[in-house]
Amino acid sequence: MRRTILVAAVAVVGLVAAACGSSDSDSGSTNDSNGSTQSAADDGAGSSDSPDASGDGEAAAGGAGGDVGVFTWWADGSEKKGLDALVDIFGEKYPNDTFVNLAVAGGAGSNAKAKLAADLQAGNPPDSFQGHAGAELSDYINNGQIEPLDDLYDAEGWNDVFPADLLDRLKMDGHIYSVPSNIHRANVVWVNNQVLTDAGLDPKTAPADIDAWIADMDKIKESGVDTPLSIGGTWTQVELLETVLISDLGADGYNGLFDGSTDWASDGVTTALNHYKALLGYANTAADGDDWPGATDMVIDGKAAYNVMGDWAVAEFTDKGKKDGEDYSYWAVPGQEGVYDFLADSFTLPVGAKNAEGAKDWLRLIGSAEGQKAFNLAKGSIPARTDITSDDFPPYQQWAMDEFGKDTIVSSIAHGAAVNLAWGTDIGTAVSQFYGSQDVEALQSALVQAAQNNMK
Ligand code: GAL
Repeated sequence: MRRTILVAAVAVVGLVAAACGSSDSDSGSTNDSNGSTQSAADDGAGSSDSPDASGDGEAAAGGAGGDVGVFTWWADGSEKKGLDALVDIFGEKYPNDTFVNLAVAGGAGSNAKAKLAADLQAGNPPDSFQGHAGAELSDYINNGQIEPLDDLYDAEGWNDVFPADLLDRLKMDGHIYSVPSNIHRANVVWVNNQVLTDAGLDPKTAPADIDAWIADMDKIKESGVDTPLSIGGTWTQVELLETVLISDLGADGYNGLFDGSTDWASDGVTTALNHYKALLGYANTAADGDDWPGATDMVIDGKAAYNVMGDWAVAEFTDKGKKDGEDYSYWAVPGQEGVYDFLADSFTLPVGAKNAEGAKDWLRLIGSAEGQKAFNLAKGSIPARTDITSDDFPPYQQWAMDEFGKDTIVSSIAHGAAVNLAWGTDIGTAVSQFYGSQDVEALQSALVQAAQNNMK
């Protein structure tokens, strides 16, 4: 599949348009929401149990019935709160269905993706799983592991409510696969206001570029803070690296890394890799598997000044009782004002799902205005639907909705939007090795090789 790049000119309009209103069929019933965590072994209901499984995209009243096993990596903390918000509504709208939580812990799917791949390979899919819009999704489509959802899109009217360019990232050969729950932004710096103020810096103003940012980190060190920048394990380092590439190459140059028009061996990439190495010199020591909440918490707790993290981080600040603007600030990574490094979680219907009709109920909820609002309020992301007003969202998401509507959109490497699973794995291996070697030349060769091996 030729990957299309989302660009501002044709991207999203009207994120602040009409009021919310669910397009779901009305189940009319309420129920105590379950959210129960059961073992995968319990996930035995087949679509034959469904009271009214039409198979034509129409919902059965109260849901198809049976267990609906949903696979994510939103297992803990603020991420689980996002999932829980969905599960609550699922229980109300589809009282016949039983949600089965198949979450595997580990940010960015660092553990989940291997388990999912093994389950899919073994012909033991969940009823629905979380994937990323874009290149990662194309893997599942090419492998014949997920079903097209054209009928569901028609029945729910979703072709009109999701941005056209997002829909393009969910399509292959004219068919649409998966339902997006949200849009996250990866290139955000989270800032501890007090730490910066103590260092004589304005927490609300982003430095102009990476060099200016590094100069500020020196000031922070001089003020007595040992760790200006917090990082976690490998995938968080990949995310940091992708943002430095955006700063040094610009949006067009960065986009070109994925279609061959920018050479991974170019001087621009060398500059970015040297910047990346310099930034790591201001960071804490991290082990491969360290997860993101630990890194974000260092900023929350004043042990670090900055953390580059996707905007799931805002849910962590909220969870810890921190106040937007008072305790923390945020801006795009220096040198990329007006660029939105995008990713979207998107839910699938796997081939061979035991309860395909129940899975469609889950997907109906994911695509509904009600589900998108509840989920994104808790998760820190913004709705993928364009008909949800920003009025009821907190300041961070209001800012993000506004930015998404006008920024140049680029695709995240660390979160499956720009590169497929194999390419992402190769980049992760290169970044992990670099963390030990600090050898820029070796990192660049490995990235060149990864592109050669995986670029379609
Ligand atoms: C991303 C995912 C986000 C969030 C993040 C950290 O890959 O799209 O929703 O979960 O990982 O775990």
